Amino acid sequence: MNTNPHDAPMPDDHSKTLWHGRFEGGPAAELMAFTESLSFDLRLWPDDIAGSRAHVRGLAHAGLVSGPERDAILVALDQVADEMRSGAFVFQPSDEDVHTAVERRVTELAGPAGGKLHTGRSRNDQSATDVRLWVMRELRVVAERIVDLQRVLLARAGDAGQVYLPGYTHMQRAQPVLLAHHLLAHGWALTRDLERIRDTLRRVDVSPLGAAALAGSSLPLDPAFTASELGFTAVFENSLDAVGSRDHIAEVLFDLTMVAINLSRLGEEWVLWTSEEFGFAKLDDGYATGSSMLPQKKNPDIAELARGKAGRIIGDLTGFLATMKGLPLSYNRDYQEDKEPLFDAMDQVRLGLGAMTGMIATATFVPERMQAAADSESGSATDLAEWLVLRGIPFREAHAIVGALVREALGGTASLRELVAGHPLLGAEAAALVAPGVAVTRRTTPGGAGPVPVAVQMQRFTESLGEWSRWVGTSR
Ligand code: ARG
Repeated sequence: MNTNPHDAPMPDDHSKTLWHGRFEGGPAAELMAFTESLSFDLRLWPDDIAGSRAHVRGLAHAGLVSGPERDAILVALDQVADEMRSGAFVFQPSDEDVHTAVERRVTELAGPAGGKLHTGRSRNDQSATDVRLWVMRELRVVAERIVDLQRVLLARAGDAGQVYLPGYTHMQRAQPVLLAHHLLAHGWALTRDLERIRDTLRRVDVSPLGAAALAGSSLPLDPAFTASELGFTAVFENSLDAVGSRDHIAEVLFDLTMVAINLSRLGEEWVLWTSEEFGFAKLDDGYATGSSMLPQKKNPDIAELARGKAGRIIGDLTGFLATMKGLPLSYNRDYQEDKEPLFDAMDQVRLGLGAMTGMIATATFVPERMQAAADSESGSATDLAEWLVLRGIPFREAHAIVGALVREALGGTASLRELVAGHPLLGAEAAALVAPGVAVTRRTTPGGAGPVPVAVQMQRFTESLGEWSRWVGTSR
């Protein structure tokens, strides 16, 4: 007897495998140890039970089990759910996966009726159904966490007011941008992650139950009936495709990988921002770690792991793509390998979103440091060139004039402002553009980084977030 599902099961009594009829000898210990999936697919039990409830109702609907038999199985399934929830479920060495464990226990509890549960069903359509149900639930939790992070980004953008910091290209200071603008840039990337998830869910929301092992059944089963019992929107069109496709899993993994990559980019910025060199932000003690040796240290481990874990999540995606490659139709046991990468990516992305959200919500920005970094006079160079353009000078020429002044200022004999003030084509009015804080106010075009377009953007983001909040709140 094995009460720990994470121990490799090893049946001593071979009559207990699901396929014992055809076999004279029983499974070898090495076979069970290598092929079992209970140690990782146990978390599918709520979905396995939901699938079995729908299936047994379908069997009754088709007249393949009587009303009392159906009810006996449903009661047994309720008890299995209770035992799973409370931890009272006792695993047997023959429980090679969650499907086997649930069916074995139903058979013990429901007597002869239990033996009818698997009629017209295979673990191939069963496990495909379970995973789709699991994804539809868990991916929505990830979507909720994304919306939570977006709420924090929007709130912090609101608090940031007119605070600005350097915008970078090539990681070199380019032009000042409002902090709100920078925060919302990440917010919009997360909106695209939500769009991808919503689109993917449409393809996950297709019931494979009723495809049986690969070809359907001789029994009068109705896949549409069980699909609607389970709340699926659509039903498979082709039984081979139903049990033999996993592109939806690859797609979920890609969506999660993209979220992870977006988090890793945000994480990298926070690693920089919280460094002494940047000093743009300080982490709350609850969201930072210390050093076991260096007493002065305060480390941004969440941000670093947001960066680091993206690597393993990319591995989950690429590993699974490699598993799928070249697999002939229909079900192949290789597909059992969809679960660990899927579960890992879903767990890590969910945890990463929660941690990054808390970290950003509680951090303190240091506007003086941000603005001091953005206030270098050369940050206004483009504004000077554009000032000349508005006075009829071709941009290429204006660029060269201002570039020469910047070069001269770098020589150190006079500041850019002084040089601009003394230049025949520029003068005092243009020199005012070089004053701290002016450049960011001149980014006025739609979608730009200055106060005027950012106010519009905040409004649009608020509306978009409202829609996504409703979506994660209302859809199943
Ligand atoms: N644990 C298996 C999986 O995850 C269940 C299906 C096994 N089917 C079979 N014919 N051996 O794919």
